[in-house]
Amino acid sequence: MTQRNILGGFVALFAAFPSALAADCAREGLLAAAQSYLTAQSTGQLSAMKLSTSNFTYQQNNKVREISTGLLSQSYKIDLNRSTADTVACASYTMWISTTGSKPYVVGTQIRHNDNNTNEIALIDTIAATTGDLFFDASKTLGYIKAEDWTTIPEAGRPSRDTLRKAGDAYLDMWTDAKAADTIPWGTDCERVEGSQLTRPCNGQLPRGGSSKKNGMRRYVIDETVGSVDVLCQFDSLGTMPDSHEIRIVNGKVKYVHTITALRVG
Ligand SMILES: *[C@@H]1O[C@H](CO)[C@@H](O)[C@H](O)[C@H]1NC(C)=O
Ligand SMILES: *[C@@H]1O[C@H](CO)[C@@H](O)[C@H](O)[C@H]1NC(C)=O
Ligand SMILES: *[C@@H]1O[C@H](CO)[C@@H](O)[C@H](O)[C@H]1NC(C)=O
Repeated sequence: MTQRNILGGFVALFAAFPSALAADCAREGLLAAAQSYLTAQSTGQLSAMKLSTSNFTYQQNNKVREISTGLLSQSYKIDLNRSTADTVACASYTMWISTTGSKPYVVGTQIRHNDNNTNEIALIDTIAATTGDLFFDASKTLGYIKAEDWTTIPEAGRPSRDTLRKAGDAYLDMWTDAKAADTIPWGTDCERVEGSQLTRPCNGQLPRGGSSKKNGMRRYVIDETVGSVDVLCQFDSLGTMPDSHEIRIVNGKVKYVHTITALRVG
């Protein structure tokens, strides 16, 4: 076979099987897209992001709406942001806090990409809490979260994807399953920040069943490199509240729990 024939064969193969070309979902790409979201949010310029032109959805507090009517239509001064990346789901989670401006906000956003293409954003899925929402006080939340350590965990000590997913699910199951709390590996120096309410250690005053409605609409972003799982959900056990629960596991034990809970859908 001549070189030209080999090349022609490759071109034909790629044309026939585009999936043979499918790239992995890269962490760098996920974090770059998350940064573009933060740039858009801090400038109020949607054009900072590359949204899919064929299939893009914006969801805010569990309701699909036009992106131009949501939080991204305004700029907010961001005091703190942190992002995690899930290369299997090809998604990222970003939290940001804004204490100043017309309205303070604490926000948790999952961004999803289709076909492992991090160059385009397919879904922006945001839980946004502001004044009047559950235990809301952005300055207090900022103070707690600023002091936390989120350094990367050395490879040998990382919790598995399965462990993280189970911890996230068990946490949300505590309201409907009396035994769920005992399956979670609580750390002794663990910290729980619910809205702006601090509980230390974090396994103080846990729910043990009581509701018949399981927390639903669960969406996951799992990042083994920092040992975190973020689950966006509808908090059906206590109502229909749009909610984000993020858990960090270090040395096999829960180190942090963060919740962002809005009282209203939309
Ligand atoms: C996306 O990347 C993941 C992780 O590398 C891989 O397991 C998966 O097969 C890829 N999916 C597609 C649609 O290319
Ligand atoms: C997000 O946080 C990083 C530091 O972790 C900072 O360098 C960056 O400017 C922040 N982005 C925005 C939009 O505030
Ligand atoms: C559109 O994007 C959503 C969210 O990422 C995805 O679930 C769905 O499969 C996509 N639809 C098509 C036709 O690609």
